[in-house]
Amino acid sequence: MRIAVLGATGFLSSAVVDAALAAGHDVIAVSRGNQGEPPPGTTWVRADRDDVASLSGAMAPFLDTIDSVIDCSGFTVEGAIAAAAVFKKVPHYVYVSSISAYRNWPPGPIQGEDDELAHPDDDLTHAGPMKAQSERILRAAVGKRLLAVRAGIIIGPGDDTHRLTTWLHRIATERWVGVPAARSQPIAVIDVRDLASWMVTAAEELVIGPLNATGPEGMCTFGEMLEACADAVRSTGREPATFVNLHDAEMRAAGVKPWSDLPFVLPGDVAHTVWQVDTTRARELAVPVRPIADSVADTWAWQIKANLRHPPVPRVVQDLTTRKVAEKLAKEAAAAEETANV
Ligand SMILES: NC(=O)c1ccc[n+]([C@@H]2O[C@H](COP(=O)([O-])OP(=O)(O)OC[C@H]3O[C@@H](n4cnc5c(N)ncnc54)[C@H](OP(=O)(O)O)[C@@H]3O)[C@@H](O)[C@H]2O)c1
Repeated sequence: MRIAVLGATGFLSSAVVDAALAAGHDVIAVSRGNQGEPPPGTTWVRADRDDVASLSGAMAPFLDTIDSVIDCSGFTVEGAIAAAAVFKKVPHYVYVSSISAYRNWPPGPIQGEDDELAHPDDDLTHAGPMKAQSERILRAAVGKRLLAVRAGIIIGPGDDTHRLTTWLHRIATERWVGVPAARSQPIAVIDVRDLASWMVTAAEELVIGPLNATGPEGMCTFGEMLEACADAVRSTGREPATFVNLHDAEMRAAGVKPWSDLPFVLPGDVAHTVWQVDTTRARELAVPVRPIADSVADTWAWQIKANLRHPPVPRVVQDLTTRKVAEKLAKEAAAAEETANV
């Protein structure tokens, strides 16, 4: 098959290119060149996919021979308008959308693919409404040939979003790491390689319609992911940090910002529903789910090799953690003294 991959050198897009090449496909890799060149074995088409003139001019020699487009670089509504104009006749179009396209997410839950999407008059500069509008634009152009892959949080090697890698970095480099005391919260994520290889299969099999593409509800807890981080760090000969419990009320009082200061962590009322995404269709269509420990270990290996940089732990988190450690050590010292005096 000839597959055009929009985006080709980033996190998900390069995994899609790798998966398509591994499956023996003829890959047309479309990017601007800002993030380097696609790998050997691809035909590189240099274009700005947000600019209809640039995209149509660059794609013109290939348009009649493309079997499927896998669109991993849809970051603007303009990009969807340009792609809709250029690719309206392709036999199959896979658009990487997002769970955030749903109007009710966050906080969720998402009951299924028929849940209401963000509206056209919502703020289209925000990712969710932009994705919902982009889906509408592409559906208007390619109709039922569209597969809208509403991805959840993507993890794995190459992840430059500083979410999972932040935890790995802190656990590997700090003596004490502040983590939420409530770590039994189930989460669901998808490994970039699982998503990429499945989308290539979906292109081969002409899978269409909307699809919530993430792991099954309850695939692991946040605490299990943190333990997998500690195991990965330990397996490379480093001593992982000791976890320090931070309670919701303490974090609120200290001004810790959910998610940005502590990736994956949300306030209790949102945390329960935000990970509740119905993925029945994904399971029926055999979207793979590898064990979280494998994704974490491979991400850690990649992040060491890539020498990925991270900003220091945010001051509010650091201060709260230091205070909690001091309290814990003082308590332990007092208990030891009491024992010695007996
Ligand atoms: N990461 C997540 O957890 C997550 C969750 C849900 C949905 N998604 C969606 O998944 C998709 C992939 O996300 P990602 O962050 O992994 O992307 P990515 O693959 O890192 O995308 C960047 C790629 O797109 C190219 N690109 C960007 N803008 C372009 C433009 N205007 N014209 C041509 N090429 C362009 C870049 O190359 P050049 O800069 O060289 O052009 C690069 O090859 C996105 O649609 C994203 O919204 C991601």
